[in-house]
Formats: sequence, C-alpha cells, structure tokens
Amino acid sequence: MCDVFKKITSQKRRMTHPFQTDFFGQWLLPAHRSLAMLTITLFIWRGIYIWRDKPMHRLYRRWIPDMIDVLLLSSGALLAFTLGFAPWHDTWLAVKISAIILYIITGFFAFRSDIVMVQRGAFFLSLLLFVYVVSIAHTMSPTPW
Ligand code: HEM
Repeated sequence: MCDVFKKITSQKRRMTHPFQTDFFGQWLLPAHRSLAMLTITLFIWRGIYIWRDKPMHRLYRRWIPDMIDVLLLSSGALLAFTLGFAPWHDTWLAVKISAIILYIITGFFAFRSDIVMVQRGAFFLSLLLFVYVVSIAHTMSPTPW
C-alpha cells in the first residue's frame, strides 16, 4: 500500500491511478467531480435569482445547496484520506483548502450582504475562486497556469 501511495504522490498528474480499479477510485472521484459541478450550477442559479430580486424557497436557497456542499467537502476529505494526500505534505491540497475557505467567505457575502455592489463583487470573486480550486485539483499544482 505504501508503494502505491508513493507512486501516486510522485506523479504530478495521473491519467489512471491504482484506485480506479476499486470502489473509491470508481465512485468517489466521479461523485466528487459531479458534486463540484452541481454546487457551482446551484451557486449561479441562486445568483441569477438574487439579481432578478425573485423570492426563492428556503429549500433551494439554503437546504439543498448546504447538503451538496457538505457532501462535496466530505467526499473531498475522504478522497484525500484514501489516496494518501494531506495538506501538511501536499502543497496543492493546502492551497486548495485555503482557496475553498475564501470561496465560502466570498459566497457568504454574495448572498447575505445588503449592499448590491458587495454582492456582485463577491459573486464574481467566488466564481474566480471556484475556477482556481478546480484548476488546482486538476493539475495538482497551486500554480495551474
Ligand atoms: C469547493 C470544494 C471543492 C471543489 C470545487 C473540488 C473540485 C475537485 C475536482 C473538479 C476534482 C477532480 C480533478 C480532476 O481529476 O480533474 C477534485 C479532485 C480532488 N479533490 Fe476536490 N474539490 C473540493 C473540495 C475538496 C476538499 C475539501 C478536499 C480535501 C480535503 C478535496 C480533495 C480532492 C482530492 C484528493 C482530489 C483527487 C485528485 C486526483 O486524484 O485527481 N477536494 N476536486
């Protein structure tokens, strides 16, 4: 198992990794990716509603996005654990988690601020941070450009 982890962490980007043959490799990474796409879709959808000043049911405004975010973050943590990544060893993961924290903070201002300029600025910043998070995940590098 140790050799497998060494092999994984020594490669910057794996096209296929040994875990793709088992349950976690087959289900967890695709589930994590899908949750990431779902969360940003809902984020944009909520943004459009707020911009149009339309009321939105609490279920779609709070409960469903919160549930998806919890699943996204826990699947990410489980992935990191099963693949042997840790923020104190892997810089890309540490930077990714920091960017996620910033994304959560800007997301809070995007939907909770009463000032329209702050709302819009925070919304665009959140989108940029999301793209940055996905790029880090994809390249496993804190400088994906
Ligand atoms: C907003 C939250 C998050 C987003 C949008 C996100 C996005 C992604 C995406 C799109 C991938 C697939 C990259 C690819 O293979 O092309 C990925 C992989 C991964 N994510 Fe996340 N993630 C998030 C949260 C987390 C968290 C909280 C952790 C860990 C604590 C985490 C750990 C991982 C790991 C270990 C991989 C596997 C990388 C690989 O083997 O290819 N993610 N993430």
